[in-house]
Amino acid sequence: MHPAYALSDVASVFSPSLVLYPELIRQNIARVIEMAGGPERLRPHVKTHKTREIARMLLDAGVTKHKCATIAEAEMLAAAGAPDVLIAYPLVGPNLGRLVALTRKFPDTRFAVLIDHPGATQALSDVVAAAGLTVGVILDLDVGQHRTGIPVGSAAFDLYVSAANLPGLRPDGFQLYDGHNHQESRTERETAVRAVLAPVLALRLEVERRGVPVPRLVCGGTPTFSIFAGLTDIPGVECSPGTFVLHDAGYGARFADLGGITPAAVLVTRVISRPTPDRVTLDLGNKAVAADPLLEKRVKLLDFPDYKVVGHNEEHLIVETAGADQYKPGDVVYALPGHVCPTVALHKDVLTAEGGAITGRWTVASRDRVLTV
Ligand SMILES: Cc1ncc(COP(=O)(O)O)c(C=O)c1O
Repeated sequence: MHPAYALSDVASVFSPSLVLYPELIRQNIARVIEMAGGPERLRPHVKTHKTREIARMLLDAGVTKHKCATIAEAEMLAAAGAPDVLIAYPLVGPNLGRLVALTRKFPDTRFAVLIDHPGATQALSDVVAAAGLTVGVILDLDVGQHRTGIPVGSAAFDLYVSAANLPGLRPDGFQLYDGHNHQESRTERETAVRAVLAPVLALRLEVERRGVPVPRLVCGGTPTFSIFAGLTDIPGVECSPGTFVLHDAGYGARFADLGGITPAAVLVTRVISRPTPDRVTLDLGNKAVAADPLLEKRVKLLDFPDYKVVGHNEEHLIVETAGADQYKPGDVVYALPGHVCPTVALHKDVLTAEGGAITGRWTVASRDRVLTV
């Protein structure tokens, strides 16, 4: 276990609690800026932490460009003083009206949104232009994840060029999010990234020859960060990792090239029962730690004998271990979440710790779907 995690005052910490370590967060931010070659090459995703405090830490470190997925996250970022916010999500239905309200409320922030469909882009233009406003549009290219986006090709060309001519829309660039690229070998990941990149650069050239600017390529998440960060010869590359800021056991176990990035979010849990001689049950249910990783990857118990997670209910985590007799109800166990982003969103507040003791409490502000807009 990292020496910074142990809390001298843990006896007064309710369990389960999520504890964040600002000193480690600052180090993670500094490391990512160093790897990127400067804060201007970053557009970190806020979805991992959803807190005003970490948004301010990034701004204080010189990061001016931010990415988010929801209107509430965008509002939290703008209210924290972020000058440039990409809502990396296709906006439809009443969210178009919310975008107008957001843009009016924060005139000093430059907003952009994703586009990947002609009809939805027309609807966006209609609503924004009717309000007398302009928003940036980023063409969401489907580079293999097949979640959202448009494949690189003639339909993508037509969509971006026609969006540039619609009232209220400003052509701001392309997004290449490759969430499917999580090969453990960095060489294999790099080969996959380069294969994705070549047709994107050809499309960019074609669009620019038509006279439409592509000022930025918003690229990747944490797994491919070190690769996109190295592409310093391509103008306008902005790296958009999110998880790095808190990091977790999942990425920590898979990607050795993320050296220098340390998990900065730890769950404090307690033994609540010893139901059988080889079982320990903890108060770390799926309402306190995200249940999307496989059972065996859901949490990493720190300084704990070899174990296997055999059950996970709303308020219970059941593990089997030959070392069960070392534990009794009330004992504290520290754990890393397997997937930190949805884990944070399960907590209304998180504690902060520095120098081995609790120092405060932060609200996970944009965990709420609606702030004011
Ligand atoms: C569009 C987009 N960009 C960036 C990220 C950040 O990726 P990561 O969590 O791997 O840092 C995500 C993660 O879900 C995403 O969906």
